[in-house]
Amino acid sequence: MAKVSIKDVAARAGVSLGTVSNVLNRPSAVRAATRAKVESAIAELGFVPNASARQLAAGRSRTIAYLVLDATNPFFTDVARGIEEVAKAEGLALFICNSDQDADREDQYLEQLTELRARGVLITAMDYANPRLQRLRDTGVPVVLVDRAPEESSEWCTVGVDDVAGGELAVTHLVEAGHTRLAFVGGPADIPQVHDRHVGAAAATAAAGLPEKALTLIRTSGLTIAEGRRAGERLLGLPRRTRPTGVFCANDLLALGLLQHLTQHGVRVPDDVAIVGYDDIEFASAAAVPLTSVAQPRHLLGRTAARLLADEAERGADHEHQHVVFPPELVARASTAVPAAARHA
Ligand code: RIB
Repeated sequence: MAKVSIKDVAARAGVSLGTVSNVLNRPSAVRAATRAKVESAIAELGFVPNASARQLAAGRSRTIAYLVLDATNPFFTDVARGIEEVAKAEGLALFICNSDQDADREDQYLEQLTELRARGVLITAMDYANPRLQRLRDTGVPVVLVDRAPEESSEWCTVGVDDVAGGELAVTHLVEAGHTRLAFVGGPADIPQVHDRHVGAAAATAAAGLPEKALTLIRTSGLTIAEGRRAGERLLGLPRRTRPTGVFCANDLLALGLLQHLTQHGVRVPDDVAIVGYDDIEFASAAAVPLTSVAQPRHLLGRTAARLLADEAERGADHEHQHVVFPPELVARASTAVPAAARHA
């Protein structure tokens, strides 16, 4: 069967080659009715675009990539859905790459994305000083830092949330619920978001007139449910008399693991221990004890980052880098509700 060409599609749809090319490469630039004619011609003829030929012709790829830290964390898949909305409108393919918080894997992906000459890369990196990230940038591939961003750089756009304010919101909420023995659960410390959330928690502790030691640090080696369970073991290992009763976890997965461990060991949430998470992923509200969490606007983070990337890919040197910081929002639920007895104490 003869190979169907772009010319056959144009003839069948009664449009020019350029219109077919626009439908394939920049569908948002084509009127809906015209796009529909071309798409039905493509379907009728069984035309399959040749991506590498298109890339050669256009001199650049139609693919963007989002390199995430942990594909099992719904935070990143929610951000990716926001990115995908913009990519689809721009006629771009989106590849999700998962570093799994492994620096070597992150390096491999950065090398591959450089060779692929991706149209642009969004990344929540292990290490923003990674020379491979700069090398990707130096090959002319736009890069946008999502979620974790060092101090504002002239090299790239950044999109994130004010995590110091987020930490303050979490601990202020616990103090207002009557807790004076607090804990921060999170790590590793070199993750900018964990560091900033801890800074905010300490600031809120001080602002409440509590001594520094009122905020116990339970350091974890990651931000997973398993690490949350291990944090629960350590919390229950502390002397009951001085054990923290208000716990702020650096993300919802930690909080869900802590909740699971405490519940399995007969500790009541919130009556014995109140818990606050961070991200407000869907599982937070669906937990056995609905979780209070500091919400991040995940889809908006993704859409904003993708729009900045598309603008830089389109406008090149005319693009001006932006550093967008969204405010966090506390969503109070049962895991921090003040027990009736305490309310009348
Ligand atoms: O990378 C893990 C965490 O950092 C996510 O849960 C989200 O909070 C991000 O900021």
